[in-house]
Amino acid sequence: MIHGILLPCLIVLVAVQGIRGLNNGLALTPPMGWLAWQRYRCITDCETYPDECVSEQLFMKAADLLVSEGYAAAGYNYVIVDDCWLAKTRSADGKLQADEKRFPNGIKALSDYVHSKGLKFGLYEDWGNKTCAGYPGVLGHEETDAKTFAEWEVDYVKLDGCYSNVRLMDKGYPEFGKHLNNTGRPMVYSCSWPAYQEEKGMLINYASMAKHCNLWRNYDDIDDSWDSMIKIADYFALKQEFWAKFAGPGHWNDPDMLLIGNFGLSYEQSKTQMAIWAILAAPLLMSNKLSDVRPEFKAILQNKEVIKVNQDRLGIQGTRVFKDKGIDIWTRPIEPVRNGHFSYAVAFVNRRVDGAPYAYNITLQDLGLTNNEGYTIQNLYDQENGLFCFNTLKTLVKVRVIPSGVVFLRINVESSKCDQDTTKKKYVFI
Ligand code: GLA
Repeated sequence: MIHGILLPCLIVLVAVQGIRGLNNGLALTPPMGWLAWQRYRCITDCETYPDECVSEQLFMKAADLLVSEGYAAAGYNYVIVDDCWLAKTRSADGKLQADEKRFPNGIKALSDYVHSKGLKFGLYEDWGNKTCAGYPGVLGHEETDAKTFAEWEVDYVKLDGCYSNVRLMDKGYPEFGKHLNNTGRPMVYSCSWPAYQEEKGMLINYASMAKHCNLWRNYDDIDDSWDSMIKIADYFALKQEFWAKFAGPGHWNDPDMLLIGNFGLSYEQSKTQMAIWAILAAPLLMSNKLSDVRPEFKAILQNKEVIKVNQDRLGIQGTRVFKDKGIDIWTRPIEPVRNGHFSYAVAFVNRRVDGAPYAYNITLQDLGLTNNEGYTIQNLYDQENGLFCFNTLKTLVKVRVIPSGVVFLRINVESSKCDQDTTKKKYVFI
Protein backbone atom coordinates (compact mmCIF):
# COMPACT_ATOMS: atom_id res chain seq x y z
CA MET A 1 0.00 0.00 0.00
CA ILE A 2 1.35 3.45 -0.90
CA HIS A 3 0.99 6.07 1.75
CA GLY A 4 -1.77 8.49 0.88
CA ILE A 5 0.08 11.66 1.82
CA LEU A 6 3.43 11.07 0.20
CA LEU A 7 2.22 10.77 -3.36
CA PRO A 8 0.19 13.98 -3.62
CA CYS A 9 3.21 15.83 -2.18
CA LEU A 10 5.42 14.38 -4.89
CA ILE A 11 2.95 15.38 -7.56
CA VAL A 12 2.68 18.92 -6.25
CA LEU A 13 6.46 19.24 -6.37
CA VAL A 14 6.52 18.19 -10.00
CA ALA A 15 3.66 20.53 -10.85
CA VAL A 16 5.52 23.45 -9.36
CA GLN A 17 8.79 22.61 -11.10
CA GLY A 18 7.05 21.99 -14.40
CA ILE A 19 8.21 19.91 -17.34
CA ARG A 20 8.95 21.71 -20.58
CA GLY A 21 6.66 20.56 -23.33
CA LEU A 22 6.32 20.74 -27.10
CA ASN A 23 5.94 24.38 -27.83
CA ASN A 24 3.20 24.39 -30.46
CA GLY A 25 0.56 25.82 -28.16
CA LEU A 26 -1.76 22.86 -28.73
CA ALA A 27 -3.43 20.31 -26.47
CA LEU A 28 -3.26 22.50 -23.38
CA THR A 29 -5.85 20.13 -21.99
CA PRO A 30 -6.05 16.45 -23.05
CA PRO A 31 -7.42 16.15 -26.61
CA MET A 32 -11.01 14.94 -26.94
CA GLY A 33 -12.61 13.40 -29.98
CA TRP A 34 -13.37 10.25 -31.91
CA LEU A 35 -10.85 7.79 -33.33
CA ALA A 36 -11.86 4.96 -35.64
CA TRP A 37 -9.52 2.12 -34.72
CA GLN A 38 -10.90 0.27 -31.71
CA ARG A 39 -14.38 -0.10 -33.19
CA TYR A 40 -13.71 -0.20 -36.92
CA ARG A 41 -10.18 -1.65 -37.21
CA CYS A 42 -9.25 -2.33 -40.80
CA ILE A 43 -12.63 -3.09 -42.36
CA THR A 44 -12.10 -2.29 -46.02
CA ASP A 45 -14.90 -4.35 -47.57
CA CYS A 46 -17.46 -1.64 -48.19
CA GLU A 47 -19.71 -3.91 -50.23
CA THR A 48 -20.34 -6.25 -47.31
CA TYR A 49 -20.10 -3.63 -44.55
CA PRO A 50 -21.11 -0.32 -46.11
CA ASP A 51 -21.69 1.37 -42.74
CA GLU A 52 -18.55 0.10 -41.07
CA CYS A 53 -15.77 0.18 -43.63
CA VAL A 54 -12.95 2.70 -43.30
CA SER A 55 -14.22 5.23 -45.83
CA GLU A 56 -14.98 8.92 -46.15
CA GLN A 57 -18.63 8.12 -45.35
CA LEU A 58 -17.65 6.70 -41.96
CA PHE A 59 -15.80 9.86 -40.96
CA MET A 60 -18.36 12.26 -42.39
CA LYS A 61 -21.05 10.47 -40.44
CA ALA A 62 -18.92 10.56 -37.29
CA ALA A 63 -18.51 14.32 -37.75
CA ASP A 64 -22.26 14.75 -38.24
CA LEU A 65 -23.06 12.73 -35.13
CA LEU A 66 -20.46 14.40 -32.95
CA VAL A 67 -22.36 17.60 -33.56
CA SER A 68 -25.97 16.39 -33.66
CA GLU A 69 -25.65 14.11 -30.60
CA GLY A 70 -24.11 16.81 -28.43
CA TYR A 71 -20.59 15.36 -28.20
CA ALA A 72 -18.96 18.36 -29.85
CA ALA A 73 -20.64 20.71 -27.38
CA ALA A 74 -19.26 18.51 -24.56
CA GLY A 75 -15.73 19.01 -25.96
CA TYR A 76 -15.18 16.06 -28.32
CA ASN A 77 -13.90 17.99 -31.32
CA TYR A 78 -11.36 15.83 -33.18
CA VAL A 79 -12.41 13.33 -35.85
CA ILE A 80 -9.39 11.11 -36.33
CA VAL A 81 -8.76 8.65 -39.14
CA ASP A 82 -6.70 5.62 -38.11
CA ASP A 83 -4.97 2.95 -40.21
CA CYS A 84 -6.17 1.59 -43.59
CA TRP A 85 -7.12 4.89 -45.25
CA LEU A 86 -4.22 4.73 -47.72
CA ALA A 87 -3.82 3.37 -51.20
CA LYS A 88 -1.29 0.55 -51.32
CA THR A 89 1.17 2.74 -53.24
CA ARG A 90 2.24 6.37 -53.37
CA SER A 91 1.32 8.56 -56.33
CA ALA A 92 3.68 8.95 -59.31
CA ASP A 93 5.18 12.07 -57.69
CA GLY A 94 5.83 10.22 -54.43
CA LYS A 95 2.95 11.56 -52.38
CA LEU A 96 0.65 9.71 -50.02
CA GLN A 97 -2.79 9.11 -51.45
CA ALA A 98 -5.99 7.74 -50.03
CA ASP A 99 -7.62 4.56 -51.30
CA GLU A 100 -9.61 5.89 -54.22
CA LYS A 101 -12.61 3.61 -53.88
CA ARG A 102 -13.20 4.30 -50.22
CA PHE A 103 -12.14 7.97 -50.29
CA PRO A 104 -13.21 9.01 -53.81
CA ASN A 105 -13.00 12.73 -52.97
CA GLY A 106 -9.60 12.52 -51.33
CA ILE A 107 -8.42 13.52 -47.88
CA LYS A 108 -8.53 17.29 -48.42
CA ALA A 109 -12.26 17.12 -49.17
CA LEU A 110 -12.83 15.04 -46.04
CA SER A 111 -10.81 17.47 -43.97
CA ASP A 112 -12.88 20.35 -45.41
CA TYR A 113 -16.08 18.54 -44.50
CA VAL A 114 -14.94 17.96 -40.92
CA HIS A 115 -13.93 21.64 -40.67
CA SER A 116 -17.28 22.74 -42.07
CA LYS A 117 -18.86 21.12 -39.01
CA GLY A 118 -16.69 23.23 -36.72
CA LEU A 119 -14.52 20.21 -35.87
CA LYS A 120 -10.86 19.34 -36.26
CA PHE A 121 -9.38 16.66 -38.47
CA GLY A 122 -6.83 14.00 -37.53
CA LEU A 123 -4.94 11.49 -39.66
CA TYR A 124 -2.88 8.36 -38.96
CA GLU A 125 0.54 7.48 -40.32
CA ASP A 126 3.50 5.41 -39.22
CA TRP A 127 7.17 6.19 -38.68
CA GLY A 128 8.24 3.08 -40.54
CA ASN A 129 8.29 1.50 -43.96
CA LYS A 130 4.67 0.46 -43.56
CA THR A 131 1.76 1.18 -41.26
CA CYS A 132 0.82 -1.62 -38.88
CA ALA A 133 -1.77 -2.84 -41.40
CA GLY A 134 0.77 -2.78 -44.23
CA TYR A 135 0.08 0.51 -46.04
CA PRO A 136 2.89 2.94 -47.03
CA GLY A 137 4.70 4.49 -44.04
CA VAL A 138 6.45 7.88 -43.88
CA LEU A 139 10.04 6.64 -43.59
CA GLY A 140 12.17 8.20 -46.32
CA HIS A 141 9.39 10.67 -47.17
CA GLU A 142 9.09 12.57 -43.91
CA GLU A 143 9.35 16.10 -45.26
CA THR A 144 7.00 15.49 -48.20
CA ASP A 145 4.44 13.79 -45.98
CA ALA A 146 4.47 16.51 -43.32
CA LYS A 147 3.89 19.04 -46.13
CA THR A 148 1.09 16.94 -47.54
CA PHE A 149 -0.60 16.84 -44.13
CA ALA A 150 -0.38 20.63 -43.95
CA GLU A 151 -1.80 20.96 -47.50
CA TRP A 152 -4.69 18.73 -46.48
CA GLU A 153 -5.22 20.98 -43.44
CA VAL A 154 -4.73 18.19 -40.96
CA ASP A 155 -4.97 19.30 -37.31
CA TYR A 156 -3.75 16.16 -35.55
CA VAL A 157 -1.28 13.47 -36.60
CA LYS A 158 -1.14 10.05 -34.94
CA LEU A 159 2.25 8.60 -35.82
CA ASP A 160 2.48 4.86 -35.18
CA GLY A 161 5.69 2.84 -35.02
CA CYS A 162 5.31 -0.48 -36.88
CA TYR A 163 7.96 -1.65 -39.40
CA SER A 164 10.68 0.57 -38.00
CA ASN A 165 13.86 0.40 -35.97
CA VAL A 166 12.81 1.00 -32.37
CA ARG A 167 16.26 2.21 -31.42
CA LEU A 168 16.14 5.01 -33.98
CA MET A 169 12.83 6.38 -32.76
CA ASP A 170 14.50 8.74 -30.25
CA LYS A 171 15.81 10.64 -33.25
CA GLY A 172 13.16 9.90 -35.85
CA TYR A 173 10.06 11.03 -33.98
CA PRO A 174 11.50 14.45 -33.00
CA GLU A 175 12.67 14.91 -36.60
CA PHE A 176 9.20 14.26 -37.94
CA GLY A 177 7.87 16.72 -35.36
CA LYS A 178 10.25 19.33 -36.77
CA HIS A 179 8.94 18.69 -40.27
CA LEU A 180 5.42 19.20 -38.96
CA ASN A 181 6.44 22.45 -37.26
CA ASN A 182 8.27 23.66 -40.38
CA THR A 183 5.01 23.57 -42.33
CA GLY A 184 3.76 26.40 -40.13
CA ARG A 185 0.46 24.59 -39.61
CA PRO A 186 -0.25 23.78 -35.97
CA MET A 187 -0.83 20.03 -35.74
CA VAL A 188 -1.25 18.03 -32.55
CA TYR A 189 1.48 15.40 -32.60
CA SER A 190 0.55 12.01 -31.13
CA CYS A 191 3.54 9.66 -30.86
CA SER A 192 3.53 5.89 -30.41
CA TRP A 193 7.24 5.78 -29.78
CA PRO A 194 7.24 4.75 -26.07
CA ALA A 195 4.72 1.93 -26.58
CA TYR A 196 7.17 0.22 -28.92
CA GLN A 197 10.15 0.85 -26.65
CA GLU A 198 8.19 -0.33 -23.61
CA GLU A 199 7.43 -3.58 -25.44
CA LYS A 200 11.17 -4.14 -25.88
CA GLY A 201 11.88 -3.28 -22.23
CA MET A 202 14.04 -0.31 -23.22
CA LEU A 203 14.86 2.65 -21.02
CA ILE A 204 12.57 5.40 -22.26
CA ASN A 205 13.35 9.09 -22.42
CA TYR A 206 10.05 10.61 -21.34
CA ALA A 207 11.52 14.09 -21.01
CA SER A 208 12.18 13.96 -24.73
CA MET A 209 8.66 12.68 -25.30
CA ALA A 210 7.18 15.65 -23.44
CA LYS A 211 9.43 17.98 -25.38
CA HIS A 212 8.58 16.66 -28.83
CA CYS A 213 5.05 15.24 -28.68
CA ASN A 214 1.66 16.51 -27.49
CA LEU A 215 0.66 13.02 -26.41
CA TRP A 216 2.15 9.57 -26.56
CA ARG A 217 0.92 6.03 -26.31
CA ASN A 218 2.77 4.40 -23.41
CA TYR A 219 1.58 0.86 -23.65
CA ASP A 220 -0.42 -1.88 -25.41
CA ASP A 221 -3.49 -1.36 -27.55
CA ILE A 222 -6.78 -1.34 -25.71
CA ASP A 223 -9.38 -3.99 -26.55
CA ASP A 224 -13.08 -3.96 -25.89
CA SER A 225 -13.06 -5.61 -22.46
CA TRP A 226 -12.84 -4.89 -18.75
CA ASP A 227 -9.68 -7.05 -18.55
CA SER A 228 -7.92 -5.00 -21.19
CA MET A 229 -8.98 -1.71 -19.62
CA ILE A 230 -7.95 -2.68 -16.10
CA LYS A 231 -4.64 -4.13 -17.37
CA ILE A 232 -3.80 -0.73 -18.84
CA ALA A 233 -4.91 1.10 -15.68
CA ASP A 234 -2.75 -1.27 -13.60
CA TYR A 235 0.25 -0.67 -15.82
CA PHE A 236 -0.19 3.08 -15.52
CA ALA A 237 -0.31 2.66 -11.73
CA LEU A 238 2.80 0.49 -11.79
CA LYS A 239 4.70 3.10 -13.79
CA GLN A 240 3.14 6.23 -12.31
CA GLU A 241 6.29 7.25 -10.48
CA PHE A 242 8.08 7.48 -13.83
CA TRP A 243 5.27 8.63 -16.11
CA ALA A 244 2.90 10.95 -14.26
CA LYS A 245 5.35 13.81 -13.89
CA PHE A 246 5.74 14.16 -17.65
CA ALA A 247 2.08 14.98 -18.16
CA GLY A 248 1.05 18.62 -18.24
CA PRO A 249 -0.55 21.24 -20.49
CA GLY A 250 0.58 20.43 -24.04
CA HIS A 251 1.98 16.96 -23.30
CA TRP A 252 0.04 13.91 -22.10
CA ASN A 253 0.40 10.20 -21.42
CA ASP A 254 -2.14 8.28 -23.49
CA PRO A 255 -3.64 5.03 -22.14
CA ASP A 256 -5.55 4.61 -25.45
CA MET A 257 -9.18 4.94 -26.48
CA LEU A 258 -12.43 5.00 -24.51
CA LEU A 259 -14.39 1.77 -24.98
CA ILE A 260 -17.67 3.24 -23.74
CA GLY A 261 -20.70 2.62 -25.97
CA ASN A 262 -19.35 -0.64 -27.44
CA PHE A 263 -19.86 -4.30 -26.51
CA GLY A 264 -17.33 -5.04 -23.80
CA LEU A 265 -17.98 -2.74 -20.83
CA SER A 266 -21.09 -2.78 -18.65
CA TYR A 267 -22.69 0.47 -17.51
CA GLU A 268 -20.75 0.46 -14.22
CA GLN A 269 -17.50 -0.49 -15.93
CA SER A 270 -17.97 2.35 -18.37
CA LYS A 271 -18.24 4.80 -15.50
CA THR A 272 -15.04 3.28 -14.13
CA GLN A 273 -13.09 3.79 -17.35
CA MET A 274 -14.30 7.37 -17.65
CA ALA A 275 -13.28 8.07 -14.03
CA ILE A 276 -9.81 6.53 -14.33
CA TRP A 277 -9.19 8.32 -17.64
CA ALA A 278 -10.24 11.59 -15.98
CA ILE A 279 -7.82 10.98 -13.12
CA LEU A 280 -5.02 10.13 -15.55
CA ALA A 281 -5.55 13.36 -17.53
CA ALA A 282 -5.88 11.01 -20.49
CA PRO A 283 -6.97 12.01 -23.98
CA LEU A 284 -10.69 11.23 -24.28
CA LEU A 285 -10.90 9.57 -27.68
CA MET A 286 -14.09 7.61 -28.15
CA SER A 287 -14.09 4.72 -30.59
CA ASN A 288 -17.66 3.58 -30.91
CA LYS A 289 -20.61 3.58 -33.28
CA LEU A 290 -21.96 7.02 -32.45
CA SER A 291 -25.41 6.32 -33.91
CA ASP A 292 -25.90 3.33 -31.59
CA VAL A 293 -24.65 4.56 -28.23
CA ARG A 294 -27.42 3.97 -25.71
CA PRO A 295 -28.56 7.05 -23.75
CA GLU A 296 -27.12 5.95 -20.40
CA PHE A 297 -23.69 5.39 -21.97
CA LYS A 298 -23.90 8.68 -23.81
CA ALA A 299 -24.62 10.34 -20.47
CA ILE A 300 -21.37 8.90 -19.11
CA LEU A 301 -19.41 10.15 -22.11
CA GLN A 302 -21.00 13.57 -21.82
CA ASN A 303 -20.90 13.89 -18.02
CA LYS A 304 -19.85 17.53 -17.68
CA GLU A 305 -18.39 17.21 -14.20
CA VAL A 306 -16.25 14.21 -15.11
CA ILE A 307 -15.05 15.95 -18.28
CA LYS A 308 -14.24 18.99 -16.16
CA VAL A 309 -11.93 16.85 -14.03
CA ASN A 310 -10.28 15.41 -17.14
CA GLN A 311 -9.82 18.86 -18.61
CA ASP A 312 -8.63 20.49 -15.38
CA ARG A 313 -6.36 23.37 -16.31
CA LEU A 314 -3.58 22.48 -13.88
CA GLY A 315 -2.98 19.40 -16.01
CA ILE A 316 -1.57 17.30 -13.17
CA GLN A 317 -1.85 13.57 -13.83
CA GLY A 318 -3.37 11.67 -10.93
CA THR A 319 -2.16 8.41 -9.45
CA ARG A 320 -3.36 5.32 -7.64
CA VAL A 321 -2.67 6.00 -3.97
CA PHE A 322 -4.20 2.94 -2.32
CA LYS A 323 -4.76 -0.65 -3.32
CA ASP A 324 -6.61 -2.26 -0.50
CA LYS A 325 -9.03 -5.22 -0.17
CA GLY A 326 -10.04 -5.11 -3.81
CA ILE A 327 -10.58 -1.36 -3.74
CA ASP A 328 -8.23 0.91 -5.68
CA ILE A 329 -8.23 4.59 -4.79
CA TRP A 330 -7.08 7.02 -7.43
CA THR A 331 -6.62 10.72 -6.70
CA ARG A 332 -5.81 13.74 -8.81
CA PRO A 333 -5.01 17.28 -7.60
CA ILE A 334 -7.25 19.78 -9.37
CA GLU A 335 -8.50 23.33 -9.17
CA PRO A 336 -9.45 25.27 -7.13
CA VAL A 337 -6.27 25.68 -5.10
CA ARG A 338 -6.54 27.81 -1.94
CA ASN A 339 -3.64 28.79 0.29
CA GLY A 340 -1.51 26.07 -1.24
CA HIS A 341 -4.14 23.36 -0.73
CA PHE A 342 -5.36 21.50 -3.80
CA SER A 343 -8.83 20.22 -4.49
CA TYR A 344 -8.97 16.55 -5.50
CA ALA A 345 -10.80 14.16 -7.74
CA VAL A 346 -11.01 10.81 -5.98
CA ALA A 347 -12.10 7.55 -7.58
CA PHE A 348 -12.86 4.44 -5.52
CA VAL A 349 -12.74 1.51 -7.95
CA ASN A 350 -14.00 -1.94 -6.99
CA ARG A 351 -11.82 -4.50 -8.76
CA ARG A 352 -14.15 -7.39 -7.91
CA VAL A 353 -16.39 -8.32 -10.80
CA ASP A 354 -18.85 -10.19 -8.57
CA GLY A 355 -20.33 -10.07 -5.10
CA ALA A 356 -22.26 -7.35 -3.32
CA PRO A 357 -21.47 -3.64 -3.26
CA TYR A 358 -18.36 -3.28 -1.15
CA ALA A 359 -18.18 -0.78 1.72
CA TYR A 360 -15.01 1.20 2.25
CA ASN A 361 -14.22 3.90 4.80
CA ILE A 362 -11.41 6.41 4.81
CA THR A 363 -10.75 9.82 6.35
CA LEU A 364 -9.93 12.86 4.26
CA GLN A 365 -6.63 13.01 6.06
CA ASP A 366 -5.73 9.50 4.98
CA LEU A 367 -6.57 10.45 1.42
CA GLY A 368 -3.78 13.00 1.68
CA LEU A 369 -5.92 16.10 2.06
CA THR A 370 -4.47 18.90 4.12
CA ASN A 371 -6.81 21.88 4.44
CA ASN A 372 -8.12 22.26 7.98
CA GLU A 373 -10.80 24.76 6.98
CA GLY A 374 -12.76 22.11 5.22
CA TYR A 375 -13.89 20.64 1.91
CA THR A 376 -17.09 20.15 0.01
CA ILE A 377 -17.66 16.78 -1.57
CA GLN A 378 -19.65 16.18 -4.71
CA ASN A 379 -20.54 12.77 -6.11
CA LEU A 380 -19.84 13.17 -9.82
CA TYR A 381 -22.04 10.29 -10.96
CA ASP A 382 -24.88 11.15 -8.61
CA GLN A 383 -25.07 14.89 -8.58
CA GLU A 384 -28.60 15.03 -7.23
CA ASN A 385 -27.43 13.35 -4.09
CA GLY A 386 -26.19 16.63 -2.66
CA LEU A 387 -23.03 18.37 -1.77
CA PHE A 388 -21.41 17.44 1.52
CA CYS A 389 -19.39 19.85 3.58
CA PHE A 390 -16.66 18.89 6.05
CA ASN A 391 -14.88 20.97 8.66
CA THR A 392 -12.45 18.37 9.84
CA LEU A 393 -10.00 16.12 8.11
CA LYS A 394 -10.95 13.36 10.55
CA THR A 395 -14.45 12.82 9.15
CA LEU A 396 -14.89 9.39 7.65
CA VAL A 397 -16.01 9.11 4.06
CA LYS A 398 -17.97 5.91 3.69
CA VAL A 399 -18.56 4.65 0.20
CA ARG A 400 -20.15 1.53 -1.23
CA VAL A 401 -18.76 0.50 -4.56
CA ILE A 402 -20.63 -1.77 -6.97
CA PRO A 403 -18.60 -4.70 -8.45
CA SER A 404 -16.28 -3.39 -11.17
CA GLY A 405 -17.86 0.01 -10.54
CA VAL A 406 -16.69 3.30 -9.17
CA VAL A 407 -17.60 6.06 -6.76
CA PHE A 408 -16.15 9.22 -8.19
CA LEU A 409 -15.90 12.30 -6.01
CA ARG A 410 -14.80 15.87 -6.44
CA ILE A 411 -13.45 17.21 -3.16
CA ASN A 412 -13.17 20.98 -3.35
CA VAL A 413 -11.04 22.90 -0.91
CA GLU A 414 -13.04 25.58 0.94
CA SER A 415 -11.80 28.88 2.26
CA SER A 416 -14.08 29.02 5.28
CA LYS A 417 -15.79 26.54 7.56
CA CYS A 418 -19.14 25.31 6.40
CA ASP A 419 -22.24 25.32 8.51
CA GLN A 420 -24.34 22.59 6.99
CA ASP A 421 -25.67 19.56 8.80
CA THR A 422 -23.04 17.22 7.45
CA THR A 423 -20.35 19.01 9.47
CA LYS A 424 -21.85 17.68 12.70
CA LYS A 425 -21.69 14.07 11.62
CA LYS A 426 -18.72 11.85 12.31
CA TYR A 427 -19.03 10.39 8.88
CA VAL A 428 -20.58 10.97 5.51
CA PHE A 429 -22.06 8.12 3.53
CA ILE A 430 -21.79 8.45 -0.21
C1 GLA B 1 -1.24 -0.05 -33.70
C2 GLA B 1 -1.76 1.09 -32.83
C3 GLA B 1 -3.29 1.10 -32.84
C4 GLA B 1 -3.78 1.23 -34.27
C5 GLA B 1 -3.19 0.12 -35.14
C6 GLA B 1 -3.49 0.34 -36.61
O1 GLA B 1 -1.53 -1.29 -33.16
O2 GLA B 1 -1.30 0.99 -31.52
O3 GLA B 1 -3.78 2.15 -32.06
O4 GLA B 1 -3.42 2.49 -34.77
O5 GLA B 1 -1.78 0.05 -35.01
O6 GLA B 1 -2.97 -0.66 -37.41
